[in-house]
Amino acid sequence: MLGKIGSVGLAGVIGIAASLLGGCSNTPVDTDNTDTVNGPPEGAALYYRDVKPILDAKCNNCHNASGIGPFSLETFEDAKPLAGLIKDEVVAKRMPPWPANEACNDYWGDRSLTDEQVATITKWVDDGAFEGDAEDEGKKLTSGEKFNCRGQT
Ligand code: HEC
Repeated sequence: MLGKIGSVGLAGVIGIAASLLGGCSNTPVDTDNTDTVNGPPEGAALYYRDVKPILDAKCNNCHNASGIGPFSLETFEDAKPLAGLIKDEVVAKRMPPWPANEACNDYWGDRSLTDEQVATITKWVDDGAFEGDAEDEGKKLTSGEKFNCRGQT
């Protein structure tokens, strides 16, 4: 685990160094190598609008500065350098940890991700993990918001 985070961290540092070398610009803090010239691709998923509400509802009760998660995922600067790792974990359904068997039970406070939420996070990462506009933040989700297996919400 540390190895992976270490190498992501290093890539982030190289990205920052590269953007400093790139010289003057008042582009917002960018921690990696995404295309700050052309901006997000058409129709891209964006951090504030699409991803932050999911991380806040399903991840950040553990992934905060004093939580049991090994790092915070509370801000764009936290999440962006770990985007690839976040995608791997949610696609493999290792995160968030949810050991209960969902075969056909519903649980209060279920914090697993819906397929749509996994798809949104995946799309955000694949689109280049862009920040978007903080003023355009998506609606807050409750951690138990989930389609249940009997077709009710
Ligand atoms: C119940 C607490 C909890 C929740 C909720 C949670 N995590 Fe974690 N997460 C952990 C802990 C503890 C670890 C370190 C141990 C491990 O890797 O299993 C971890 C590790 C990770 C890692 C590093 C894995 C690696 O290979 O190094 C990533 C990435 C991650 N979590 C992302 C997420 C995302 C994204 C969510 C929400 C969709 C989430 N976590 C929700 C507790 C949590």
